Amino acid sequence: MEQYIIKGGKPLCGEVSIGGAKNAALAILAAAIMTDETVTIENLPYVMDIRVLLSAIEEIGAVVERIDKHTVKINGGHIGSVSVEYDYIKKIRASYYLLGALLGKYKKADVALPGGCNIGSRPIDQHLKGFKALGADVEIMNGMVVTKADRLVGTHIYLDVVSVGATINIMLAAALAEGNTIIENAAKEPHVVDVANMLNTMGANIKGAGTDVIRIKGVEKLHGATYSIIPDQIEAGTFMTAAAATRGDILIKNVIPKHLEAITAKLIEIGCDVEEFDDAVRVSATKRLGHTHIKTLPYPGFPTDMQPQMAIVLALSEGTSIVTESIFENRLKYVDELARMGATIKVEGNTAIIDGVEHYSGAQVNAPDLRAGAALVIAGLAADGFTTVDDIVYILRGYEDFDGKLRSLGGCIELVNSEEEALKFRLKVG
Ligand code: EPZ
Repeated sequence: MEQYIIKGGKPLCGEVSIGGAKNAALAILAAAIMTDETVTIENLPYVMDIRVLLSAIEEIGAVVERIDKHTVKINGGHIGSVSVEYDYIKKIRASYYLLGALLGKYKKADVALPGGCNIGSRPIDQHLKGFKALGADVEIMNGMVVTKADRLVGTHIYLDVVSVGATINIMLAAALAEGNTIIENAAKEPHVVDVANMLNTMGANIKGAGTDVIRIKGVEKLHGATYSIIPDQIEAGTFMTAAAATRGDILIKNVIPKHLEAITAKLIEIGCDVEEFDDAVRVSATKRLGHTHIKTLPYPGFPTDMQPQMAIVLALSEGTSIVTESIFENRLKYVDELARMGATIKVEGNTAIIDGVEHYSGAQVNAPDLRAGAALVIAGLAADGFTTVDDIVYILRGYEDFDGKLRSLGGCIELVNSEEEALKFRLKVG
């Protein structure tokens, strides 16, 4: 019954260092098996999703050597199976990157079709459209995506929706196709660029990542490499909003400020002080913040993965804010949980109308998904009194040592496994 128990009301102050980007790492681990040589990956976040994907890669026969919590060596030279079971996909959707990697390298792959998840239906039609355009046969059989190709031939693909996953999965398959592939309407997220950079380090020929047109010149084979993952812009943004919500002052280190521009702009707009350094940002808020409008968009727009965290800040701000979630159809579920803490938010379709309140009061809440869970922890740290957050397994999937980092900033939070431990915490903090 793992849960976080929190005593709120104290501003978070101090310094925190950001880990590697989970959403880049998941794709980069898949890319690593596309060569028979050894690939070393550094700055991996030590989170559950990464551990599960490493197990999936071992399951198909790759050799994984864990050097330390944040470094692995992978050798895909003896992969014996191109079939990735549902168990892995059920745990982490991003196992579907093994589709593009295995199809690209072995011209065949059987990967369980990911289901929906807590934030929406999560189709992969654009991934499959890209594989077919490259010349692969794609069938859905018994819940598996079964794909194979005599040859993969470069082509011109126009994505119907801007999709991070489809952009990356097609890039993986096209890297070893014959000839040139152009992906139009491509996603421009930093983690798309990180995957392209990693593939190029392995000998691929990819240009234009980070723009909406990516050009891939297929190569015969890829070779070993050593690559370090970029900092996680969403983990960084989460701590930025934690400073704002608790009226604290946090120096967030090991970030790429450019990746945080949409978040920085909004925090400044509502009255935070944000100072940018080469590889750090400092966020502080000394007074009650103001309202604004947020609409989530593909990068460089305001990231959907930061929408719940920003809403927590706005629900404590002066005036009425509007938050529109335009990427996923079910990413406002935290609103009911936050209402238990005193927030006044009205949801109409995919829009939340937020009337800011002066204070949250602590309550028992459940994490509906990864980012909403992190957002509710921030709400607990800003609230008066005690908050318990259940279902924190979602949070552990994407944040490394989240409670430890928050404690280092003065947050009164513990991960407890029983009522007895929870009681001990309450007695200890009083
Ligand atoms: C990635 O998901 C991230 N996950 C998500 O982060 C993130 O929210 C999302 O990109 C958007 O930035 C990983 O990288 C592992 P999409 P992904 O394909 O690739 C529709 C987190 O919290 N779509 O860009 O699945 C889709 O329904 C997670 O770390 C199709 O219609 O997102 C959505 O409306 C949550 N057909 C939109 O596109 C497709 O084939 C964007 O989805 C693919 C997507």
